[in-house]
Amino acid sequence: MSKPASSNAALATRDLKHLWHPCTQMHDHESVPMVPIVRGEGAWLVDADGRRYLDGISSWWTNLFGHTNPRIAAALAEQARTLEHVIFAGFTHAPAIELAEELVRVTPPGLDRVFYADNGSAAIEVALKMSFHYWLNQGHGEKTRFIALSGSYHGETLGALSVSDVALYRKTYAPLLLTPFLAPSPDTYEGEPGESPEQTAKRRLAELRALLERHAHETCAVIVEPLVQCAGGMRMYHPSYLAGLRALCDEFAVHFIADEIAVGFGRTGSLFACEQADVTPDFMCLSKGLTGGFLPLSAVLTTTGVYEAFYAEYSAGKAFLHSHSYTGNPLACRVALETLAIFRDEPVLERNRQLATHLARRLEPLRDHPHVADVRQTGMIAAIELVADKASRRPFPADERRGLRVYLHGLQQGVLLRPLGNVVYFMPPYVVTEAEIDLLVDTAIAGIERAVTG
Ligand SMILES: Cc1ncc(COP(=O)(O)O)c(C=O)c1O
Repeated sequence: MSKPASSNAALATRDLKHLWHPCTQMHDHESVPMVPIVRGEGAWLVDADGRRYLDGISSWWTNLFGHTNPRIAAALAEQARTLEHVIFAGFTHAPAIELAEELVRVTPPGLDRVFYADNGSAAIEVALKMSFHYWLNQGHGEKTRFIALSGSYHGETLGALSVSDVALYRKTYAPLLLTPFLAPSPDTYEGEPGESPEQTAKRRLAELRALLERHAHETCAVIVEPLVQCAGGMRMYHPSYLAGLRALCDEFAVHFIADEIAVGFGRTGSLFACEQADVTPDFMCLSKGLTGGFLPLSAVLTTTGVYEAFYAEYSAGKAFLHSHSYTGNPLACRVALETLAIFRDEPVLERNRQLATHLARRLEPLRDHPHVADVRQTGMIAAIELVADKASRRPFPADERRGLRVYLHGLQQGVLLRPLGNVVYFMPPYVVTEAEIDLLVDTAIAGIERAVTG
């Protein structure tokens, strides 16, 4: 019997004939279903056979206010009828200008300059190059290295991958990469027994100090994911680390790059994670939630001081050299403005606090589970660390792919969960209801039961 042309099966067959998907061993699709999505609505996705999936991970942490959010969709449609794109060198437009004004207004004080790019990794490239070039323009061409935290993830272009420390992504391409100095992460899960999160942060700052004492003279910047190392397994740390990092960067004359690509825009409970430590980094990278999950766009914010190091007669050759064809795309900027307008018009963070409290309450019983070593949460990000042995925290071997079992169980139940190895996590859109959180958690618990047995 032939498949209806628009069915899941028909679309999946056509997809697998020509497409190559990211973060995927394509061979997996000999047994793992490819899910063709035809529609999104609020926190839900609908497939070609009409099955619905609750998006528990905001489609790779991008969506904030629901799929096809009517307000954002209307703004996008209007902009598409007005100006879809224009070269951003020598030309400008109102959406880019207004978005820059708005970003400067909402980010920590002192970040007054905005450079656009078109995805998260590109923003990291911009920040790394800008930091290096700043020091070069200041007569410090010897500063060519970066410090990153163990377990960090900043994207997968070569520069961004260079400052990432997730073995799965990095190992294969290592011969092509810059080599950063790695500072041990303040990750609370890796803290010493009996140590508080704040004490772990303090100890890790002392180690960072030692690294800076040796290498600050050749280091451009320290790059971190503030409060939550997301792709590295939703590892979380105390805000005092960021305050200490700011002080160390000042003391040793290196930049502080805050990668808020995943944690920005309300994820951690404040609009930006850096606010919880009351710090202003030298560079702040934003993307993902910036457009509410609608379009690719990123922005790097920096200080007037950095900007001025590039500002000179043309002949001085100090201009920043980085360009993408779609820099400052008007559609994406307009959509970002509407996303920020929703934050202004609605009590988003207050509502998120209630949702986060509900999520925490629902996850509490998992702490006693014999295969759960840790349940952690920062705002609208929560994670469950599965282990083979609770007492020793011995992990399940990666090749057992326990997380994949949770994923497959989720799909069967109409819930999109996508564990990172042995870490099952939740990062739902902010329009999720308490009942939907219950569905996420109940599905995850049942999926975990299936995943840890056998
Ligand atoms: C913290 C962080 N930085 C950078 C990136 C890279 O962003 P993109 O996937 O848009 O290149 C990601 C993506 O997950 C991220 O989580």
